Amino acid sequence: MIQPRKHLLGLEGMQAQEIYQILDTSRSFHEILERQVKKVPTLRGRSMINAFFEPSTRTRVSFELAQKRLSADTINITTSGSSMSKGETLRDMVANLEAMRVDMIVIRHGTSGVPHMLAEHTRASVVNAGDGTHEHPTQGLLDLYTMRERLGDLAGRRVTILGDIAHSRVARSNIWGLRALGARVTVCGPRTMMPKRVEDLGVHVEYDLRRAVRDADVINVLRIQLERQGTNTFPGVREYARMFGITNEVLNTTKPECFVMHPGPMNRGVEISPEVADGPRAVILQQVTNGVAVRMAVCYLLIGAAGEEETRTVHELPRAVPAATA
Ligand code: CP
Repeated sequence: MIQPRKHLLGLEGMQAQEIYQILDTSRSFHEILERQVKKVPTLRGRSMINAFFEPSTRTRVSFELAQKRLSADTINITTSGSSMSKGETLRDMVANLEAMRVDMIVIRHGTSGVPHMLAEHTRASVVNAGDGTHEHPTQGLLDLYTMRERLGDLAGRRVTILGDIAHSRVARSNIWGLRALGARVTVCGPRTMMPKRVEDLGVHVEYDLRRAVRDADVINVLRIQLERQGTNTFPGVREYARMFGITNEVLNTTKPECFVMHPGPMNRGVEISPEVADGPRAVILQQVTNGVAVRMAVCYLLIGAAGEEETRTVHELPRAVPAATA
């Protein structure tokens, strides 16, 4: 039996059994998303705040849709629209939100560790929607879900993560999750974009793109953070595209069934060519669709499932998802 957790702050240390529980629950919610009426009453009466202090399209909309499809009350706040723009501290803001009895705070912040700090100072459940260069656990989970949908069991599968590994919270959450499920992870990118002692994460390191993708089942392409240009991590986008960009020519050197993922937002023509992004081997929009189901599962498991069935097992969980409302 898996102990229910209160917060989702990262995938580091999460056991395979719990990851499978989230992915199996996501599959049940995915089925709901295929129905004509995509709403269930599961979290009716629960209130959630989505606090995004960094730009986001996919994650913010995906959380909001997930919460609305679970019938939760949901409110979005950003730095400019909150009293933080008048000097209020994040901690004071959270204390005020808690005074209004919110059940969950989903937070994205440019500083690593902010969700962890919040979790220590609130009774609400906290979900990390991306903190600095640390983790982006729901992106990691939706990536695992997408890979599992295509490949089944991920044990022994080869996943290549390509790009700015040092600054990528997506890479870190993918690495923790993939390793927990027994996948073999290769990271590839310029030396200037590799964290120190990257091997300690349990990954294979490769600096040559073609060697990195030759045996891969999946290539997960990271966004090149163009805002970091000028920080000496790479000389220019053209050079990066030439050495590390995924093009059809690169894909021709991989296994034919190898597919391409990207968390978005994409820099077309830099880390990924338009013909690959729009081509049959990319599953990028499937990742976005899957993200809603995974975030429904996360919200449900954190605040909806607690106390529902003390003795449920991982495999019983999907049956606990209520039918759609008329
Ligand atoms: N993948 C991801 O986090 O995208 P957004 O920045 O648009 O949320």
